[in-house]
Amino acid sequence: MERRPHVVAIPFPAQGHVGPLLKLSRQVAHHGIRVTFVNTESVHARMLEASGDDDRRWDGIEMVTIPDGMEEVKDPRDIEKVAAMRAKVMSRHFEELLRKMNSSRDERVACIVADATLGWAFEVAEKMGIKRALFWPAAVPGLVLSLSLPHLVEAGVIDDCGFAPSDTAIQFSPKLPAVKAVDFVWRCPGDQRMQEIVFRHAMGVTKPVRISNWLLCNSFYELDPITCGLIPELLPVGPLTSTDCLGNFWAEDRTCLNWLDLQPCKSVIYVAFGSLAAFGQNQFEELALGLELSGHPFLWVVRSGFTDVDKIKYPDGFLERVSDRAKIVSWVPQEKVLAHPSVSCFVTHCGWNSTMEGISNGVPFLCWPCFADQFYNRSYICDVLRVGLDLKAEEAEIISRHKIQAQLEQLLSDVQIKENAERLRGMARRSLSEGGSSSANIQHFVEQLKRCSE
Ligand code: UDX
Repeated sequence: MERRPHVVAIPFPAQGHVGPLLKLSRQVAHHGIRVTFVNTESVHARMLEASGDDDRRWDGIEMVTIPDGMEEVKDPRDIEKVAAMRAKVMSRHFEELLRKMNSSRDERVACIVADATLGWAFEVAEKMGIKRALFWPAAVPGLVLSLSLPHLVEAGVIDDCGFAPSDTAIQFSPKLPAVKAVDFVWRCPGDQRMQEIVFRHAMGVTKPVRISNWLLCNSFYELDPITCGLIPELLPVGPLTSTDCLGNFWAEDRTCLNWLDLQPCKSVIYVAFGSLAAFGQNQFEELALGLELSGHPFLWVVRSGFTDVDKIKYPDGFLERVSDRAKIVSWVPQEKVLAHPSVSCFVTHCGWNSTMEGISNGVPFLCWPCFADQFYNRSYICDVLRVGLDLKAEEAEIISRHKIQAQLEQLLSDVQIKENAERLRGMARRSLSEGGSSSANIQHFVEQLKRCSE
């Protein structure tokens, strides 16, 4: 029997990275490639628990786990120590795993597909003579910026801790809006150490890119041909979607789908801030009251740990007052929610996965970025793609209920934004259909894999 090429995929261990790489892995597997997906033990345990031990969803992907050494890190908030420990422990286990696989003719690895942040994974594979595909899970302009950093630092535009004057604007193409200093991914106001760590990580992408044989990303060419053109070897393979919301760390509350079925068409405001963002209690209450003031039905994801108090506390009487038009749950099958005809708009933190999922479903955005790439994604959504409005928070400002209400009203009455969102939805769908750009890029990747493992 013909041996299928064997690909080993390894994500950064966080929801926003595991989900899209798992979706990509499944697509690759559907093209006849054998895929082994390497999770950390703790992430895998979470995914199993969230799915009620139902591993059918992984559908054709082989799952293996490796330790991440986290039990040895005293303070899990110390991201420098966390990253160093992960690199030490995971790279050793990853190398052992690849060696074991390579010692058997049937298991021999044709290529690794690794998250761009896992520089060590590329080095291990290079050392072993295994081909390497880099997966960039965020927006393409972020990759362009990361790759330009050595040059920008050398030119003195950005200093070697990631600081630049506040009026700095980096123009990659005359046809693109400039990347402003306030939108830098590594910007951590008030936390210089964190900023330096994140900045070094952003700079660190250059080497894995240089030693990769393929660059894959979760976007589609037509979304941003100018930026994609700046990295000619890039293969956009998105939007990476799955109707079964693959790879969740939290159990989905599916009752929200029945609730959505009962709501009028395009009436429901969907509110979710991804897997990491958290609100202070005051801001949380203003958001609750803003949603109430809007007068519209709303579906709101309030994860455990979403506020800075131990137990989620709503404004007095809020839950009773909104009970006939609100559904509040701890985790939803987001792609299904965004595809539901009752949803009118998406109040989002602008995580890139949420952005791609909103775009694929033609849903207008109300942007409320919290950290990292989310500020740049906000500018992208509002100023480049023109499919959303910004809440325009000044630093440390609490966004008031009235502002939330006013921006929601404006968004819901903006015909142009709805048209733009609908147009992008069509483009996203076409890119995935047969002969579409992302579908052709996956095909190209798979064919090259098959050829190089003959
Ligand atoms: C993080 C960063 O915040 C983000 O900016 C970066 O681009 C990727 O890593 P996260 O904050 O979790 O990710 O946001 P996002 O990228 O939007 O990913 C969240 C994922 O969780 C999405 O795929 C979304 O569909 C899923 N989700 C979220 C659910 O399935 N249910 C929910 O209730 C909420």
